[in-house]
Amino acid sequence: MFFDAIAGAFSHDLAIDLGTANTLVYVRGKGLVCSEPSVVAVAQDASGRGEKVLAVGHEAKEMLGRTPTGIRAIRPIKDGVIADFEITEAMLRYFIHRAHSRRKLVRPRMVICVPPCITSVEKRAVRESALSAGAREVYLIEEPMAAAIGAGLDVTAPTGNMVVDIGGGTTDVAVISLSGIVTSRSIRCGGDKMDDAIINYVKRKYNILVGERSAERIKMTIATASPTGKTETMEIKGRDLVAGIPKVVVATSDEVRDALIEPIHAIVEAVLLTLEKTPPELAADIVDRGIMLVGGGSLLRDLDSVLRQETNLPILRSEDSYTAVVHGAGAALDNLPLLKNVALA
Ligand SMILES: Nc1ncnc2c1ncn2[C@@H]1O[C@H](COP(=O)(O)OP(=O)(O)OP(=O)(O)O)[C@@H](O)[C@H]1O
Ligand SMILES: [Mg+2]
Repeated sequence: MFFDAIAGAFSHDLAIDLGTANTLVYVRGKGLVCSEPSVVAVAQDASGRGEKVLAVGHEAKEMLGRTPTGIRAIRPIKDGVIADFEITEAMLRYFIHRAHSRRKLVRPRMVICVPPCITSVEKRAVRESALSAGAREVYLIEEPMAAAIGAGLDVTAPTGNMVVDIGGGTTDVAVISLSGIVTSRSIRCGGDKMDDAIINYVKRKYNILVGERSAERIKMTIATASPTGKTETMEIKGRDLVAGIPKVVVATSDEVRDALIEPIHAIVEAVLLTLEKTPPELAADIVDRGIMLVGGGSLLRDLDSVLRQETNLPILRSEDSYTAVVHGAGAALDNLPLLKNVALA
């Protein structure tokens, strides 16, 4: 108790969006201090028995798909949940120390955002990762709740708000009212599935194998969710599966759109199914207030038009798609009564 009070006085409390693709850290009193890919590179140490962390974040992401034997670049969060406990803990520890300008011996209060579909075993894993990475107290908030707060929606009001968070690993659709999630649906389909779809398409059509990073670049540069009238092209480099040598082909935005039909359909369907389960009063609120899109995947060009067309509802894009979740968690960290209200038991 006494130690906690001292630790509290010397540490800055943190809010963390531990995402499949990116980890963002908000420090109370400082704001957003870190936004890095959730990737850790580890190298076998000299004895060959253990592994040590080589790089975290941007530097580690550059290594994905490019490592020699003895080095592994790992994405420890898969589909929104922790797949590699130890690596996640190492990553958290690194980000916490960085947030505190590498001072050790600080034990912050931590708010961590988790997917709504999380099981109690997974909850415990997140909590324990945070505690052993140095947290003094841990609160878990569901990502759509944090996203709604971050997007400026009044989550405490008796009004229905619908949030769609399209991340790297998952798409979470949720209807929020009175500080709680009324209905929600999570699907394991987000930016990563779009990248996979592009890889498979290029493999089928051109017999070329491209890496994950290249597929992501194609998606961010020329992909659209619906026909735009203007066709863009981009060079794709990969390995020819027949000749086995590197090769370049030119892909068009129309082709990439075809490749993305399935993941986009899955996202639209998740939204429609959640709307179907929404109680009528809240559905009426959503007709007036629209659906709020957040998450990096929502930046896919024209995805908002597709959703508008399919639902006939107003579709709003949050101004900071990437940071809405961490900013919402940060806002809760700054407001203890709100935090206690929205945090998971
Ligand atoms: N302009 C863009 N067009 C399409 N996709 C994009 C764009 N910018 C980023 N993305 C995708 O957004 C995803 C990352 O989004 P975000 O950071 O919200 O995910 P996350 O929070 O880490 O994942 P999750 O919430 O599923 O755990 C990546 O798949 C990335 O490729
Ligand atoms: Mg996310």
